[in-house]
Amino acid sequence: MPDEVSRRQFAKLAGLSAAGMASPASSVEAKPAAAPRDSGGFPQNFVWGTATSSYQVEGAVNEDGRGASIWDKFVRIPGKIEDGTTGDHANEHYHRYKEDIALVRELGCKAYRFSVAWPRVFPDGDGKPNPKGLDFYNRLVDELLKNGIEPWLTLYHWDLPQSLQDRFGGWRSTETCKIFGDYAAYVAEHLTDRVKNVFTLNESGRFVYFGYGIGIDAPGLTLPQAEVNQIRHNSALAHGLAVQALRAHGRRGTRVGPAENIDACIPAIDTPENVRAAEIALRELNAGYLNVIMTGRYTDAFLKYAGADAPKYTEADLKIISSPVDFVGLNIYSPQHYIVASDQGAGFMPLPIPKSFPHMNSDWLRVGPETIYWVPKLAAKIWKTNAIYISENGASGDDQVTQDGKIYDTDRIMYLRNYLAQLQRATTEGVPVRGYFLWSLMDNFEWVYGLNKRFGLYHVNFDTQVRTPKLSASFYRNVIAKNAAGA
Ligand code: BG6
Repeated sequence: MPDEVSRRQFAKLAGLSAAGMASPASSVEAKPAAAPRDSGGFPQNFVWGTATSSYQVEGAVNEDGRGASIWDKFVRIPGKIEDGTTGDHANEHYHRYKEDIALVRELGCKAYRFSVAWPRVFPDGDGKPNPKGLDFYNRLVDELLKNGIEPWLTLYHWDLPQSLQDRFGGWRSTETCKIFGDYAAYVAEHLTDRVKNVFTLNESGRFVYFGYGIGIDAPGLTLPQAEVNQIRHNSALAHGLAVQALRAHGRRGTRVGPAENIDACIPAIDTPENVRAAEIALRELNAGYLNVIMTGRYTDAFLKYAGADAPKYTEADLKIISSPVDFVGLNIYSPQHYIVASDQGAGFMPLPIPKSFPHMNSDWLRVGPETIYWVPKLAAKIWKTNAIYISENGASGDDQVTQDGKIYDTDRIMYLRNYLAQLQRATTEGVPVRGYFLWSLMDNFEWVYGLNKRFGLYHVNFDTQVRTPKLSASFYRNVIAKNAAGA
């Protein structure tokens, strides 16, 4: 596997990471403080949530008529998954969803982001739906609502039906985009009586490049840049078709938007010149997906840079791609580029990142709390949106279970505390961030890392399926209760 930092770092261009004195543990996990009347924290009605995705938690891959996905096949290719595990069982969430929803409730979350496994609902991607597949999401949504938790649904979190890969080359073909639109319409018809918020595709910036460009995610292909650019265009088209399907088939008031791992650009030093340069960089380095979705055109700089590899498209495509959205979901983990102003090219220059830059337990996951301040702020300005949701943020940790059976993940708490303080700085200044989904509710199958990387607020023992709250679960509960970062 290539160097982990560069793995993440640039999924972008594409789009053009004292013994005796210690207190007993019980006193550490204090009860959450009551919300002060005027907390000076986050806005009222701020949506606090956690997130998971279907293949990463559900397991039960051969149950109730589910079809195969590209990940079912990919995980079986020797050497692809670091620890040789698969998502066959994962968290057994398919059977344990009630227990897991109780964990969401314990945190005090108002919302839960999950994804629908397309091959559960349409085993072949298209054709005959599988009612038992849909039933699972009916049960899940009902259980969430019963617990006072708002369901936020993602249509596509990477588990493409294998049949579409076999028949059409997956996202290489616009046939898959059209079929995705039909799947979105079906989900809209059956679930938007209860689900009010829908994310279309999760992280085009990753699954296109990693899956079709460098082959380290499913389906594991290494295609030339021109094809990768075309596939990215197809993913934007699929997003647009899903937006239209939601409008046509969803209940009135259903809201829809993307959930993208925006290529994160930050002014290296807060000067007007650098801030302006970071704004240009954010637009240009996200020109292949978010910017075309939000503006309906590829930028001149993007087309010039892509040259002969630029995607082929029609004006009609651009219209579909830029179908108006209700919100923008941003997955924000790491600073990708520290930017300074330049009198060359488009007017910005990304600085080299030093090897000594601090990171969490995943090498790609650099710690740059200011990312979650600058990126939404600049994004709101560039794309004139008044509703941004942080659709993912979180950190991996070593998460050892200590002798007392607890997990003192003070590193994750450090990361979250600093990021949330910067997010609060943004909302206090009026940046329109309306909610935050912490990745993840519980440890799960972390794609190419298998079960080796843990991002959960709840520790999972994958032999016994026992879930244990980490100290960060208490931290997050306290944040939510106070509606403030300084918890
Ligand atoms: C996000 C994905 O990119 O990052 C999640 O949307 C994923 O599905 C998370 O679990 C962590 O990524 P990774 O590569 O470390 O497993």
